Amino acid sequence: MTKLSVNINKIATLRNSRGANVPNLLQFATDIQDFGADGITVHPRPDERHIKYDDVHELKPIINTEFNIEGYPNKKFIDLVRNVKPHQVTLVPDKPNAITSNSGWDTIKNYSFLKEIIAELSLNSIRTSIFLDPNIKFIYSAAKTGADRIELYTEFYSKKFELDRNIAISNYISTANEAINFGLGINAGHDLNLKNIEFFSTRIPNLLEVSIGHALICESLYLGLENVINLYKSKLSKN
Ligand code: PXP
Repeated sequence: MTKLSVNINKIATLRNSRGANVPNLLQFATDIQDFGADGITVHPRPDERHIKYDDVHELKPIINTEFNIEGYPNKKFIDLVRNVKPHQVTLVPDKPNAITSNSGWDTIKNYSFLKEIIAELSLNSIRTSIFLDPNIKFIYSAAKTGADRIELYTEFYSKKFELDRNIAISNYISTANEAINFGLGINAGHDLNLKNIEFFSTRIPNLLEVSIGHALICESLYLGLENVINLYKSKLSKN
């Protein structure tokens, strides 16, 4: 079965918006694991507007599933993951001020850069994954870098899904098959949600893991809303 890693950046963003410790990120990660998630993902960005670097250190001891840290491999990021030693690092080519990740690696242009970083992470016994657009042309050099996995960037799939799910998924299937031929494992993430996840996970061969943040938190808010409104009404009915 495909593993679900929950990206908790949004919880950190909510906490940061009030300056205190609500919601408590560590409690949240603990509960997510108790509820059955297979892993926790964080994506520290240079300005720490979501996950802070200290959060990553504090999360490490409470993670009893799989810890995946994603981000652009600048020196600060590499120092962080070398210290924390998560199970997996997902390398993402996002610019420091990008709202969210918005493209995969060009593994041909960045081949030497990626290869060097991946060698360093592998020496530290960290599994590596490269964030990739669904394009078979990037697979050969992705494999040559020594990466263990690719993470398919699924924004395009999610955008096209409502219009034509078969067209939406077609490049993802061919890219996944090419990756399998080169011995790479397959993860996926970005804009996956309760509507589009089943079609994706049943069509992509050997999908090992998905990481989901934004939609999962929005859906949790919505699916919990009726319950919370009723709890407030019930408390207020006591006067
Ligand atoms: N994978 C990567 C590389 C990401 O940057 C993100 C967003 O931080 C995700 C997966 C998860 O995307 P979403 O929040 O849309 O589920």
